[in-house]
Formats: sequence, structure tokens, C-alpha cells
Amino acid sequence: MAKPNKTTLKWAGSKIRIMKQLRPHLPKAKRLVEPFAGSCAVMMNTNYEQYLIADVNSDLINLLDALAFVPDGVIFEATGFFNQNNNPSDYYRLRNEFNSPKSGMSQVRQASLFLYLNRHCYNGLCRYNKQGKFNVPFGKYKNPYFPQKEIDSFCDKAYLSKASILNLEWQDTLSLVDFNDGVYCDPPYMGSGFTQYHTSGFSDADHEALASALKDINDIQGNPITVSNSPEAKELYADLGFTIHEIDAPRTISAKGNRKPAKEIIAVLEGVK
Ligand SMILES: C[S@@+](CC[C@H](N)C(=O)[O-])C[C@H]1O[C@@H](n2cnc3c(N)ncnc32)[C@H](O)[C@@H]1O
Repeated sequence: MAKPNKTTLKWAGSKIRIMKQLRPHLPKAKRLVEPFAGSCAVMMNTNYEQYLIADVNSDLINLLDALAFVPDGVIFEATGFFNQNNNPSDYYRLRNEFNSPKSGMSQVRQASLFLYLNRHCYNGLCRYNKQGKFNVPFGKYKNPYFPQKEIDSFCDKAYLSKASILNLEWQDTLSLVDFNDGVYCDPPYMGSGFTQYHTSGFSDADHEALASALKDINDIQGNPITVSNSPEAKELYADLGFTIHEIDAPRTISAKGNRKPAKEIIAVLEGVK
């Protein structure tokens, strides 16, 4: 079996390690809509004709958009950052620049700084303080990897699949779901305490609202739906009529040294033609 395609960014909750288990349960459709796209591990490891990629994190979407439309600019600027700044003082100087008001900064510089931070910060985490400032400390990597190959693959895929890349809350993304689309949702996991991809978290009430919105879309428009979550969400999805598959997922960057596989669920509603 071929190795999964890696992504430009390191991302907590990346689906790279479970693609083999997830793939058979993904919707069959022309276009895949992903309201919680993160690093786009699913896009980079599937072959839908089209993609709608969305996420609430504006730094992430700014980078993905720049990679899709002005990749050479990002590669040039980010290469400069990677070549000279693998030490704490340059890291904190560039982090301060990234956290300064964005109004005067070009999209390419913002995107390049985010890529540099992602590959040089502690564990590739993406955390913000209450003021929305990126606050992950320096990562002390010997030789941070510049993801040239992953950028090229993303850029090709975004172009060939005419990907729409949008900075939206999940409710707004779901309002764009068309009749023939499939939907894959990978929200921050329920009960994980691992909810701070951006300044606002994802509460149990958010999980309930998401599950029932997905059920409504399936009832009204017939779209096939697949959701990843922790076992804590099993009852919520089972009660709404989703079929639940349980899998063992290798741990990722949130693991704190614990290498035992974690249980996850994949909840599925088949499409109605
Ligand atoms: C588990 S990660 C997705 C990982 C992705 N499947 C991958 O393989 O990289 C969850 C994502 O949900 C996003 N997110 C959190 N709250 C959100 C919201 N209210 N609306 C849309 N996206 C949200 C986060 O920014 C994060 O990228």
C-alpha cells in the first residue's frame, strides 16, 4: 500500500494516519465539502473531481489560498525565513511580526510567516491567546523541513480540482452544500480538551448543533455525510441515525508521549438519491 501524501502544514488532528481506515467511509460524490479542512490531509489523499475547503482559522486559509494562487511568492519568501532563522531570537522576532496588525502586511508575507512558524514552533501546534495572538514557543528542531514537495502537490491539486478555499464558520460552509455534494466533517474532538485551534473553542453545544445540522442536510437534500470524532460523540451521532464505525488511530502531536492507539469514531449517513 502506498504511503499517504503528507501535507504542507503540521496540524493537530491531521487525518493522514487514518486515511486507510477513513477512505472507505467517505462520501461518494463529485465534490467533497470539508467545513473543518485543517491541513487538507483528506483532500491530498482522495480523488474527488472538486473540493470546497473551509476552516474558521483565517491564518490557515490565508496560507492555503496563497499556495493555490501565488505559490512562487510564498516559496521565495518562506525559503528565506527557513534558511536563516532557526534560533529562538529570530523565531520570537518573526512571531512578533506575524502578531503585529495585519493591515499593512501582504498576503504572501503573512502566509510565509505562518508557514515558518508552523515548522519551527513547538510540536507544530497552532495556539492563540485571548487577544488572538499566536503564542506557541520555539520548537528547537535541528533542521526544520521545508515542505516544497507538499506545496507543489497542493498547488497542482487545488488548480486541477478548481478548489474553493474559504475562511468560514462551519454553519456558513454547510449553507453552500449543493445537491450532489458529499460532506466530510472533522471538528475538534468532543471531550478532548483540545479545542483551541483558534481563540474560540468548540463546546458540547456546538457538537450537538453540528450533528443536527448534518442530519437536516441529509434529510432535506439527501447528501451523504461522514464525520470523524472521539468515542464521546458516539451516542450523539447514533441517536440521530448515523452508522458508527470504531477505529484505532495512531497518536499524533497531542500525544504527550502516549503512543497507545486512541479510539475514534467515523459516523456515516448514506446519501439519498
Ligand atoms: C481536527 S482539525 C481538522 C484536521 C483536518 N481534517 C486535517 O486532516 O488536517 C479541526 C479543524 O476545525 C477548525 N475549526 C474549529 N472550530 C471551527 C468552526 N467553528 N468552524 C469551522 N472550522 C472550525 C480548526 O481550525 C481545525 O483546523
